[in-house]
Amino acid sequence: MKYSTEDIEKIIYRYLPEESGYPIKVIQAMNYAFMAGGKRLRPMMMKLCFDMFKKEDNEELIGPFMAAIEMIHTYSLIHDDLPALDNDELRRGKPTVHVKFGEDIAILAGDGLLNYAFSVAAQAFSVKPGDVNVEKAFSVLASKPGIYGMIGGQTLDVIKSGSPLTDEEIEYIYINKTSALIECAMTIGALLGGASGDEVDKIGQVARAVGMAFQVQDDILDIVGDEKALGKPVLSDEKNEKYTYVTMHGMEKSRQYVNNMSDKANNILSELNVTDNNAKESLINLITQLIDRDR
Ligand code: IPE
Ligand code: IPE
Ligand code: MG
Ligand code: MG
Ligand code: MG
Repeated sequence: MKYSTEDIEKIIYRYLPEESGYPIKVIQAMNYAFMAGGKRLRPMMMKLCFDMFKKEDNEELIGPFMAAIEMIHTYSLIHDDLPALDNDELRRGKPTVHVKFGEDIAILAGDGLLNYAFSVAAQAFSVKPGDVNVEKAFSVLASKPGIYGMIGGQTLDVIKSGSPLTDEEIEYIYINKTSALIECAMTIGALLGGASGDEVDKIGQVARAVGMAFQVQDDILDIVGDEKALGKPVLSDEKNEKYTYVTMHGMEKSRQYVNNMSDKANNILSELNVTDNNAKESLINLITQLIDRDR
């Protein structure tokens, strides 16, 4: 693998806010959630996509966006765990933010991370002033996590708790609550690396397939996983009466689906011509490893 989790953390930790002043409590909660651990998949995928197309290395350009996507992802987890949503008490092997800091601070810490992500990403504007790809990347960062992306998926997920889903509804939920942030990460990496429109489209297809596989594997682990390895509770979906791909289609079909979607992603990737083949191989390996992950 081109990068370890630690390599990615070294980059993204640089952008965290300092814990001081009157808002210290909310900043501590933000940093607690962010630094609790996590696989750092989204910034890693972003960096690998950046590397695949880039003509020159520029960590000042990609670094702020890597930190920003992980901040947005972390905020989505803090809010997803709240009592009003999934009501879970363990995340990344630690008590969830609302358990540790109270529900009020957890809501604010999520809001704080979402806003802070944009002020961090905006640092990239001064690295390449007037660059159209930086503008496009910023716009993707604003849209994919929102109502026509992650928030849209989370909304249907929560309002459909306890009711069966049609095939169209479950596809909408997964493509949005999970694929959207992965697509956001990979698209930004490709754009900042200077990929063509056609290449960015291909990366989008890869990301959507990876996201579907990733969420179905997450649903599988919710049933057969180990809480210690996962770092979050098992049987959360059952507790919340969620219909998932696994409850709808059974374990065997679900595992098959994870394999098929991962193959689909890797086949599209294999056919792409890139400048850094090591980055492409690493991305293919990463996607393959996610199939059998235990966390
Ligand atoms: C969890 O994402 C939320 C889902 C989309 C299933 P991850 O499994 O990437 O969580 P961390 O970042 O490693 O904690
Ligand atoms: C959540 O899906 C996806 C998010 C946008 C946070 P889940 O509710 O299944 O994620 P986990 O299992 O709590 O990580
Ligand atoms: Mg949820
Ligand atoms: Mg959840
Ligand atoms: Mg889950």
